[in-house]
Amino acid sequence: MAELDFAQYIPQRVVFVDHDGEEIAADIQATLPELEFRLRERHTVTAEDFQWADTMIGYTNGIEHVAQLRWVHSSAAGVDALLRKGWAEGVLLTRTVGKMGQRIAEYCLAHALAHTQFIRLAADQQRQRSTSRYRPELLRGTNVVVFGTGEIGQAVGNAFAAVGCRVLGVSRTGRAVAPFEQVVAMEECAPVLAESDWIVFTLPLTEQTRHIFNADRLSHCNGAKLISVGRGAVVDAAAMLTALDAGQISAAVLDVFEKEPLAPESPLWTHPQVVVTPHIAGRTDPEDVAKDFLDAVAALKQNSRPRLTADPARGY
Ligand code: GLV
Repeated sequence: MAELDFAQYIPQRVVFVDHDGEEIAADIQATLPELEFRLRERHTVTAEDFQWADTMIGYTNGIEHVAQLRWVHSSAAGVDALLRKGWAEGVLLTRTVGKMGQRIAEYCLAHALAHTQFIRLAADQQRQRSTSRYRPELLRGTNVVVFGTGEIGQAVGNAFAAVGCRVLGVSRTGRAVAPFEQVVAMEECAPVLAESDWIVFTLPLTEQTRHIFNADRLSHCNGAKLISVGRGAVVDAAAMLTALDAGQISAAVLDVFEKEPLAPESPLWTHPQVVVTPHIAGRTDPEDVAKDFLDAVAALKQNSRPRLTADPARGY
């Protein structure tokens, strides 16, 4: 994509494919009243809508007609589903991050503190009018390793660092970035896993990250607790259950799953060391879809690359 050619993506006709379309379109049209919108849902959008539009905002399971568009702005941070049916060269792909880093960071910290403060035990005890005293643990001084050191991983790192944890990162390249005390490349993460108390997955789903947390990597863990908030398929769930039973990991907080919604018969629902939530850690606010889109349009008007441009070849 030629660096100087971003102005060609300035939109005129937008097909919106997701929920909350009215609110998001109204927010955008408050700044760009000349933009025309068609509001659709995943099951109502047609091939003709894609012929009419130059731009799509939203999220859907692969876009059959992506070649007819110039720009797709994802209403999600992870763009894996949009790329599922391939991508056409030269179509710009941007994403919405909004307040997701903060949301996911607060989710991770809340679940870690719920564990160290025995919040579930406290609720059970109150129900039973029990006065037996227990000793909460400290998060401070524990080792936290965050897989994925982008905007969301950094926010998670900041949250744990703020309560005194030692925070390390694992990324594709191992490039140093704040607030991580050290960042290691994926292939070199085994020693870090052996020392970690908490392991947080914020990775996007790509061909490289699918089942990256497999039986081999789990075998390096020494009783760590997992928190998975990026994409479920990053963790091999069957291997994780085996690792839980073997004590290689001691607990798992899972917000994302290989297949969502999680099937009623999944053993994860009832496992005593597993906490399940329904993909709510990093919910996108409709206002953030509009804001990140408008910021991208402003960049295009300056003929520059929008900050939240994704690379379809890389997958994130
Ligand atoms: C949520 O999972 C997102 O990718 O925005």
